[in-house]
Amino acid sequence: MNKKQTIDLDFDRQHIWHPYTSMTQPLPVYPVTHTQDNKIFLQSSECLIDGMASWWSAIHGYGHPVLKAAMHQQVDTMSHVMFGGITHQPAIDLCKKLVAITPNNLEKVFLADSGSVAVEVAIKMALQYWLSQGVTGKQKLMTPLKGYHGDTFAATSVCDPINSMHSLYSGFLPEHVFVPAPESQFGQQFNQQEAAQLSDYFVKHHKEVAAFIIEPIVQNAGGMNFYHPEYLQAVRQLCNDYDVLLICDEIATGFGRTGKMFAVEHSQVEPDIMCIGKALTGGTMTLSATLTTAKIAIGISEGEAGVLMHGPTFMGNPLACAVASASIDLLVEQDWAKQIAELNHALESLTQCSGLPQVKNVRILGGIGVVELTRVIDVEKIQRFFISQGVWIRPFGKLIYLMPPYISSEQDINTLCNAIYDAITGDHY
Ligand SMILES: Cc1ncc(COP(=O)(O)O)c(C=O)c1O
Repeated sequence: MNKKQTIDLDFDRQHIWHPYTSMTQPLPVYPVTHTQDNKIFLQSSECLIDGMASWWSAIHGYGHPVLKAAMHQQVDTMSHVMFGGITHQPAIDLCKKLVAITPNNLEKVFLADSGSVAVEVAIKMALQYWLSQGVTGKQKLMTPLKGYHGDTFAATSVCDPINSMHSLYSGFLPEHVFVPAPESQFGQQFNQQEAAQLSDYFVKHHKEVAAFIIEPIVQNAGGMNFYHPEYLQAVRQLCNDYDVLLICDEIATGFGRTGKMFAVEHSQVEPDIMCIGKALTGGTMTLSATLTTAKIAIGISEGEAGVLMHGPTFMGNPLACAVASASIDLLVEQDWAKQIAELNHALESLTQCSGLPQVKNVRILGGIGVVELTRVIDVEKIQRFFISQGVWIRPFGKLIYLMPPYISSEQDINTLCNAIYDAITGDHY
C-alpha cells in the first residue's frame, strides 16, 4: 500500500474482525499508514510513540535495516518451501542459534507458526512422551490461575478460566487442574506456604498430570503478575519429585524482555519443554518454536506413534527463519542487556503514579512497566486521550502497561510515562 492511499474504514467496520471485539459494536480502530523505529504513523498524520512493541514482538523497533535486508535477501532466494521431506539453511541456522541461547538441556526444536501453536505442540509433546513410556493415565495439565497461553483450544484450556471465558466453551474444552496463582512478588520475600500448597496439588493429582505449564516470572495477559523466582523453583522441584514435565511458556518473556535472555534464568530452572514466539522474528513475521530435551524427543520417537503428530503448512518458513536469525544476531550485537537496563531505568518514571489514590500498584521489571488501577479502564476513552498525547498504549482490565521497543529513547519513555500519569490524574479513563 502506498502511504497516500486512503484506508477504507467503512469496509473494515463492515467486514473485518479485530482482536477480541464485536462486529456490531467494535471499539474504534486507528488507520495506520506506516511504522518506523519506535513510531506509528496514523492516516490522520499524527505520529505516535509506541509503548507496546506490537504486543511484545517489535523489540528492535520497526523497519530495522538489518531485518529488512535479511528479508529482502531471503525473498530473492526462496520465500517458502514445504518442510516435509525438505530442509534449508535458514531453518538450520536459526535452530543452531536457538539451541545455543536457550537452557542447556533443550536441544530439539519444532518450528511452528504462532505462539498458540507452539503451546499446542508442547502439550502434544508432553502427552506423547508419557504414552511412549507406557504411562496412559497422564492426560491432564496443571497450571496456575491468571495464566495466558493463547487462543487455540488446547492453549485456551490452560488459560485462566474466568479471563478466557471457559464457560463459553464448557463441554468442549478439556478440564485441567488449576492451582492458585503465584502470590509472592518478584523482589520481595517468598512465602514458603505457596510451595506447601503447590505440593498438596501434586500429591493429589500427579498420576493424572502429564505436565505443569506456566509463564516464567511474569504472568502476562492474565494480569501482568511479576512473581517470585522461588515459586518456579518449587514447581521444578515438585515436577521432578512427582514425574510431571515442566513446560515454560516464554512466548512473551523471551529474548531479554525481563532482564534475562529467558525468564527461567531468574530461577535458574531448566524446563523440559519451552515455547518461544512473539519477539523471535523481531516483530516482522509470525514464527514460533517449541524446544525440548533429547530424552523427551527420543521417548516420543521410540513410542507407539514413532513420530510427533504435528506439521503445519508453513512450518520452518525460510523467510521467517532468516529474519529470526538476523534478529537474534542483532540482539546480541546491540548488547540487549544494556538496552534493557536503560529501558528499566527510564521506566522508573512510572513511579510518579505510585502515590495516586486511583493507583493500586506500580511495578517495573526489565523492559516492562505496569500501573495497576483500582477500577476497570474504559479502553476507548483512554486511547482517545493517549492519541491526543502522541502515544500508543493499549490497556486492558485495570492495567496500563508499557513494553516498548528496546531502541526507545529515554525521552520517549518519559513521554509515555507522563501520558499515563496525565490520563490517570485527568480522569481520562
Ligand atoms: C505467554 C503467551 N503464550 C502464548 C501466547 C499466544 O501467542 P500468539 O498470539 O502468537 O498465538 C501469548 C500471546 O499473547 C502469550 O503472551
